[in-house]
Amino acid sequence: MKNKKFIQLSRPHLPEINEYKRLLDRLWKTRWITNFGFYAKAMEKEAGKFLKTNNVAVVSSCDLGLLIALQSLKLKKGDEVILSPFTFNSTANSILWNNLKPVFADVDAETWCLDAKDVQKKITKNTKVILGTHVFGNPCDVKALRKTIGNKKIVLMFDAAQAYGSVYKGSRVGTLGDIEVFSFSGTKTVISAEGGMIVTKIKALIPLIQLIRNYGFSYNYNTQILGINGKISEFNAALGYLSMKDVRNSLKIRNKIAKYYIKNLSGVGDIKFQKVEKGNLSTYKDFCILTSRRDELSKYLWAKGIETRKYFFPIYKTDYFKKFFKPLKNIEAISRQNICIPIFNDISKSQLDHITASIKDFYGNKK
Ligand SMILES: Cc1ncc(COP(=O)(O)O)c(C=O)c1O
Repeated sequence: MKNKKFIQLSRPHLPEINEYKRLLDRLWKTRWITNFGFYAKAMEKEAGKFLKTNNVAVVSSCDLGLLIALQSLKLKKGDEVILSPFTFNSTANSILWNNLKPVFADVDAETWCLDAKDVQKKITKNTKVILGTHVFGNPCDVKALRKTIGNKKIVLMFDAAQAYGSVYKGSRVGTLGDIEVFSFSGTKTVISAEGGMIVTKIKALIPLIQLIRNYGFSYNYNTQILGINGKISEFNAALGYLSMKDVRNSLKIRNKIAKYYIKNLSGVGDIKFQKVEKGNLSTYKDFCILTSRRDELSKYLWAKGIETRKYFFPIYKTDYFKKFFKPLKNIEAISRQNICIPIFNDISKSQLDHITASIKDFYGNKK
């Protein structure tokens, strides 16, 4: 049901078109439209300032960034990577593209991020990477995961696709893991239409990542390593650069929307929210609730012109990954009940009122 009043789940937050056009002038003048030109470098510089690190590399997407990041670790075929199935498929795909073995662990029942206690049980002598996803922008429990690793030689990696701007105990996501990968696709807090960025604590990985993302050669076409085209175009990078400059504003707006939902939907039906630990900040890339009446609610809201999504759908239940399926308690419970409701920067107060009133109506207007 699409009509004038239809409320989409998500809408990209774009800069003023004239601002973008001004940046495009440079591309027309210089004809430098790709190959890590001015705006790709500007994005890296801006992210470096924001995250307080020089070890950043922009790429064409987070999907490819994850693949490249894992490749840069030079692991052996069959080495194990622990991840949660409550993520986007790119997280798991990157493991298989690198001939590694995905080992699924459960999430915490409240934060929906990788549970360090279950990770502990899944560690073997072949475990080389723990790969957590900051789910919907909510930072993983980094301290607990580090403690679990102890002095074992295991890389702590994060799929930070949804979390540019999130904060964990005073530190920005991106600087928490040994290696983290962001997405700047159309639904994120920072948008370059398509794009991503690898950030690492391991400085020595950067030249290798730069080589891999550039087909495996540097300037003389002499292939040094199995590479791939991970370049971001200057058109995307110019957009990403503008969007990055606006990230603090986006974070403020999205947290205000989340606060509104929590205030207005607390105690309605059996609705539960994702827990963001005190002192942490989420991007709220998505606003997801749990309810035992998820499927009915989704249909009801659709009829009222409100788009929702049952997201994430656990990876280990997808056709391609089902050979890895072994039910995990919290994942099973969450994925029976999860439903994302609309969140985007320019959502209006009347749209928010319509959404919360419709949800209350669904539960018989209690509260
Ligand atoms: C958790 C997660 N990982 C990876 C990706 C893939 O990002 P991209 O679209 O930039 O390849 C997404 C995209 O939404 C995501 O949500």
